[in-house]
Amino acid sequence: MKPMGPLPPAFAHQQGALTIAGADAAALVAEHGSPLFVYDLSAVAAQVARFRAAMPAAIGLHYAIKANPFAPLLAAMAPLVDGLDVASGGELERALAVKPAAAVSFAGPGKRDDELAAAIAAGATLNIESAGEARRALALGERLGIAPRAAVRVNPDLELRGSGMKMGGRASPFGIDAEEAAAVVRALIAGGATWRGFHIFAGSQALDAGALIETQAATLALAARLADAVGAAPPLVNLGGGFGVPYFAGDVALDVERVGAALAESLARRADVLAESGFALELGRWLVAEAGVYLTRVVDRKVSRGETFLVVDGGLHHQLAASGNFGTVVRRNYPLAVAGRMGAAGEEEVSVVGCLCTPLDRLGDRVLLPRAAEGDVIAVFLAGAYGLTASPSAFLGHPAPAEVVVG
Ligand SMILES: Cc1ncc(COP(=O)(O)O)c(C=O)c1O
Repeated sequence: MKPMGPLPPAFAHQQGALTIAGADAAALVAEHGSPLFVYDLSAVAAQVARFRAAMPAAIGLHYAIKANPFAPLLAAMAPLVDGLDVASGGELERALAVKPAAAVSFAGPGKRDDELAAAIAAGATLNIESAGEARRALALGERLGIAPRAAVRVNPDLELRGSGMKMGGRASPFGIDAEEAAAVVRALIAGGATWRGFHIFAGSQALDAGALIETQAATLALAARLADAVGAAPPLVNLGGGFGVPYFAGDVALDVERVGAALAESLARRADVLAESGFALELGRWLVAEAGVYLTRVVDRKVSRGETFLVVDGGLHHQLAASGNFGTVVRRNYPLAVAGRMGAAGEEEVSVVGCLCTPLDRLGDRVLLPRAAEGDVIAVFLAGAYGLTASPSAFLGHPAPAEVVVG
């Protein structure tokens, strides 16, 4: 038997039939079909409210829409946050449909000219990733007769300790090395761009409050050093994000209130050059991961050489991360449940496998669950972030799952 991750708090004490924001999971599947992604908007709003209560008022909240760009969720999120961060021309369009351009920023390597031009024309902020991209943005701005709004994304000389995905402190395709960032800012200003500040993103999926506190303090210090080197105050310092969620057995939820209290202290002590700057954090998964559940029906139950398999109609083509193939080194189990038997004692060890013919398609590996039969619905939790859009949905040509919002 292998352990599963902890159920998110909203589901941890449920008994009997699974409900999501009060909606019965089996009824949702009956209405919308299986497999199905369900996102609880009230849970998203509650996370935003928790962030606001925990963080100093000076910290703006940006939503990184790559975590979940489902249009109804995005529409609900937009009025709750101060900015949307996008990573492609497609995401830019989705963000501009729900938020003014001045509140939209576009980060990511390899922006094509048409994407840069679309952002410049709309008035969104480009988080510039290289000296070459700065030159192309300036040239496109000149051609369009519009001053690009541009921040410089910095590849920091620090990393987020303990993060699942480190994005700083090393050679990187992301951002401009801290040593060269001031020169690029000066070139942007001299070229006529409207300089919007710094974007410094050091890592993702951190559960250790101490590591985040350390990184945020170091990021503030780096922003101050860079501002001194530029000789101008940045209008905005985007301090990155990295707030993680517990996916696996042994993971402990991040103490966001502790991070907020420490950030208030670091901000109070900030260098004079940042006195007038605005600040923001840019979060994806922490805001939406726990709000999503992937529901998939058991199609077949079989025993092979002593191992019981529940074969479901979903799989890694919809929920790659739960199969352990999206950024994890060792495969571990996400939390799963039999949707009709929440809170029931585990009765048998089963492997929950998807319908793709690859051994990678395993949503639960030798997990202990109440007995499930063909037709029962399995719930895969933590499906609100990096689910459908982070999965190879065209693989093997199965139909796309439905997505719905509740709450
Ligand atoms: C620049 C940037 N912003 C935000 C995020 C969102 O990270 P998370 O969903 O872990 O909060 C990422 C993730 O890779 C990122 O690269």
